[in-house]
Amino acid sequence: MRVRVCVSGWWAESDRAIIRAVTAIIQASKVSRVYRSGGEEVSAVRDVDLDVADGAFVALMGASGSGKSTLLHLMAGLDVPTSGTIRVEGEDLATMNDAVRTLFRRRRIGVVFQSFNLLPTLTAAENVSVPLMIDGVRDGEASERATEALRLVDLSPRAHHRPDAMSGGEQQRVAIARALVQNPALILADEPTGNLDSHHASEIWELLRRLADQQNRTIVAVTHEAHGASFADRVVVMRDGQIAGEIIPQVAGGDSEVAEKYQAINKIP
Ligand SMILES: Nc1ncnc2c1ncn2[C@@H]1O[C@H](COP(=O)(O)OP(=O)(O)OP(=O)(O)O)[C@@H](O)[C@H]1O
Ligand SMILES: [Mg+2]
Repeated sequence: MRVRVCVSGWWAESDRAIIRAVTAIIQASKVSRVYRSGGEEVSAVRDVDLDVADGAFVALMGASGSGKSTLLHLMAGLDVPTSGTIRVEGEDLATMNDAVRTLFRRRRIGVVFQSFNLLPTLTAAENVSVPLMIDGVRDGEASERATEALRLVDLSPRAHHRPDAMSGGEQQRVAIARALVQNPALILADEPTGNLDSHHASEIWELLRRLADQQNRTIVAVTHEAHGASFADRVVVMRDGQIAGEIIPQVAGGDSEVAEKYQAINKIP
């Protein structure tokens, strides 16, 4: 048997057992998810192998229905694979019971969706504190940590605003601060800019890039936008539930380069 050990991205081989890259925060092996509804089966994700290195920013692109959200939900432990395994920080999410998996997600994974899901009657700071309140963190500490999370997303001046007194971009930054407040190593985002205009979308992509660069957060973000994907270190392209190819963007904001390569991957029969 052969061993492949990844040290700082370089692969060495020996012949004892397969040791997965210790630096991978997500390790997906032969992951499939089959939905069964009304007597029909849909293979939303098929046999996907994907490692995401600690501190990497990965964009997931693909046509509608290609399985991006399904794969992201599996990484978040919002769903479990029909077969195969997903490890996050070395933990196999499928072996946890629902309560343990929910706790793991709340503490170790920040999840961001297209809709901001903020509570309308709470201020930005209070919304950011919600995961801490659920965890029983005392008020003073929760407030300090919420203030720090809002600072990370450049929203300190809006801490006492309610959602209806903020722009869409600001509301999504509050949602990102809420995802950061437990200090998770991993942020998973499903079309985080889907409800934003291009200016506010760019601000969110720049923010995610900065969180990866300056805070060593690992980021996996689903997007349809080549512009957003160009901020990532790797763009993983999905087609029909499988990984069809990868793009390494050369320039952040280099929309046309990513768009051309994306189309080329999608044309391969
Ligand atoms: N709960 C479900 N039951 C049955 N089929 C489902 C379910 N959720 C998703 N699917 C199917 O699985 C496939 C992948 O869906 P998924 O939501 O992962 O796609 P996506 O790439 O995120 O698409 P989009 O870009 O439109 O959000 C689709 O064919 C979809 O119809
Ligand atoms: Mg989706």
